[in-house]
Amino acid sequence: MAIQHTLSIIKPDAVAKNVIGDIIRRFEENGLSVIAARMLRLSAEEAGRFYAVHKDRPFYKDLCAYMSSGPILAMVLEGQNAVALNRQLMGATDPKQAEPGTIRADHADSIEANAVHGSDSPENAESEIAFFFSDLDLHSRR
Ligand code: CMP
Repeated sequence: MAIQHTLSIIKPDAVAKNVIGDIIRRFEENGLSVIAARMLRLSAEEAGRFYAVHKDRPFYKDLCAYMSSGPILAMVLEGQNAVALNRQLMGATDPKQAEPGTIRADHADSIEANAVHGSDSPENAESEIAFFFSDLDLHSRR
């Protein structure tokens, strides 16, 4: 399986709960390495651009308000099959459906405040990484 990069975001609810370390530990213990990291607070407009693919969904406005409600930690993860592995570790979008032991099962409050975001394909990973980072910010371990 190929080495991939994927974008991970620790969302405002999980940052506020002080579980950044627990989430990163799960990535590292499962073979993913953090090769870039940046804490920032998005404006509602920036959140809207990041989630533009959802602009026609009924939850879009609330999602933009929530994602700009506090600081987030944006990271690039590197590893074998990183896109799918990160999504497996996160669990389902709705924490009620998430497998026990996943990040969302353990830390998410709701389908909106669901602790983490992860890219859903290698193509989207590339554009989502470019939203937050330049190539010079990435420090591959390979
Ligand atoms: P994320 O994986 O970051 O992708 C889109 C986000 O929209 C999702 O996590 C949730 O935070 C949010 N969201 C809010 N309501 C819904 C919903 N009904 N279905 C999917 N995503 C939702």
